[in-house]
Amino acid sequence: MSSVADAYDAMPYTARPRRSTHPDTLAVNGRLAGLNAPPITKCRFLEVGCGTGGNLIPMAATLPDSQFVGIDISPVQIELARAEAKALGLANLRFETQDLAAMDPALGQFDYIVAHGVYSWVPPAVQDALLALYRSRLTPAGVGYISYNTYPGWHFRGITRQAMLDRVAGIPGDPATKTRVAREYVRFLATAAPEPDMPYSHVLQSEADLIGSESDHYVFHDYLEDDNRPVLFREFAAHTGRHQLKYIGEVLPFPFLGGLAEEIVKLLQEMSSDLVDLEQHVDFLRNRSFRRTLLCHAAAATDPKAALGVVPSLLVSANARPALPDSEVDPDAAQDFIANDGMSISTRNPIVTAMLRAAFAAWPAAVPVSRLEQLVADRLGSAWTKDPGRARRILHQQLLDQYRNGMLMLNTHMPDFALSIPERPVAFAPARRAAATGTMVPTIRHFQQPLEPMDQFVLTRLDGTNDHAALATALASAVAGGTLEARPEGDPPAWVDLTLQRLAYTTLLEAK
Ligand SMILES: C[S@@+](CC[C@H](N)C(=O)[O-])C[C@H]1O[C@@H](n2cnc3c(N)ncnc32)[C@H](O)[C@@H]1O
Repeated sequence: MSSVADAYDAMPYTARPRRSTHPDTLAVNGRLAGLNAPPITKCRFLEVGCGTGGNLIPMAATLPDSQFVGIDISPVQIELARAEAKALGLANLRFETQDLAAMDPALGQFDYIVAHGVYSWVPPAVQDALLALYRSRLTPAGVGYISYNTYPGWHFRGITRQAMLDRVAGIPGDPATKTRVAREYVRFLATAAPEPDMPYSHVLQSEADLIGSESDHYVFHDYLEDDNRPVLFREFAAHTGRHQLKYIGEVLPFPFLGGLAEEIVKLLQEMSSDLVDLEQHVDFLRNRSFRRTLLCHAAAATDPKAALGVVPSLLVSANARPALPDSEVDPDAAQDFIANDGMSISTRNPIVTAMLRAAFAAWPAAVPVSRLEQLVADRLGSAWTKDPGRARRILHQQLLDQYRNGMLMLNTHMPDFALSIPERPVAFAPARRAAATGTMVPTIRHFQQPLEPMDQFVLTRLDGTNDHAALATALASAVAGGTLEARPEGDPPAWVDLTLQRLAYTTLLEAK
């Protein structure tokens, strides 16, 4: 097997759920671009370089009528993925040890193809093979996702990569040892660099902070692998064009023109010949280091003006919380909303505030746009009823704008999950298994959820046999035995209620 396979066999890359790669994310963005993207409830989905399968497994568990295939060159990772899929009894998912450059034609075609963390980490011939695979395996209206490292951001990050590679070059040892030595070296450089106010010291410091917060497998494979080939977005777009593939956008939210002054946006638009040109200028402006790009066949019918007409067919869910509860809002003041990734907006627009509050109140459910119209109308009263047609048009435009700002999610489909708490709750099976060994679990909505110790304890016991009283007894005895810390307030039955509410809120409980 290749040295790539050896590297990943030696330090498997623990794959995790990535909402950005979910077929729903690809379908929404494809449809907004005017593509007739296939329904995700009955699709064929391929992940190239799927690692240990942690992204595909929860997807397959929530979309039982769709077919999922994962390929990876590393046999150790594929074995781990297969074992987990087998333990969960997933019949709509298969994992194969295959080199993407020679993928078995019998695997067929796919409506959605994803390769996260692959393109930049393979030699040019394999990059070419990857795009050829999208070209030959994507169905006519299918959507592809590829993530990759970009310049100019990676010029900064490349400084530490070069230093780390140099430091470990002569050191014999396993990946874990090399990663530890390389991490220590970056921290040393950041703290020992003279002239702390110089730009170079700032770069070292921010890199050391970033590397310090990342997992070993990320640091090893991003900083210490032989291949890590960042590109300019312009070069990537040209490469996809040579394979008759077309750029349809980035996975949102994507900091593009949002937040830039109007005159800057105007200047950028004037100096840009097309969308790729404009995006490249913005990458230089924002020092972009990573992209998650969506592609389709060059010949596929798309329409940049389609988005507004597509909105009424979608579902809406919150991605931001109001800074103040409804009861504390000053009707004359601007209202702040804070997105899950920390981005925020401040707005006085009553349609925007009503829409974001209604979506937040509905979480974790997603609501059809027609239902959201009703919820917003109820909140606005006469401000809606005096001209409902105009209000509806503004609402649809704002749904798009706030989706692009990262304040909302748009969906084509929502799996079932418990909205109220059952007497004998059943946890999402992939999460229950993950909780047995760790504190990061996949949710039904396909996010990665960190668990507190008490949540983890309860989650592992939610197989449908334990009622609330049995869970409270188990918690009480774990606390009495010293294996679990008590909460500062309340008693075991109250802890169970609180924990189950949190698990339901993060979509970790199955609907009955
Ligand atoms: C950085 S990891 C990303 C894993 C996973 N997609 C994720 O994001 O968690 C890159 C993966 O690509 C796989 N890979 C590299 N070259 C490959 C090839 N030629 N064919 C198939 N898989 C390959 C590696 O084994 C590894 O699992």
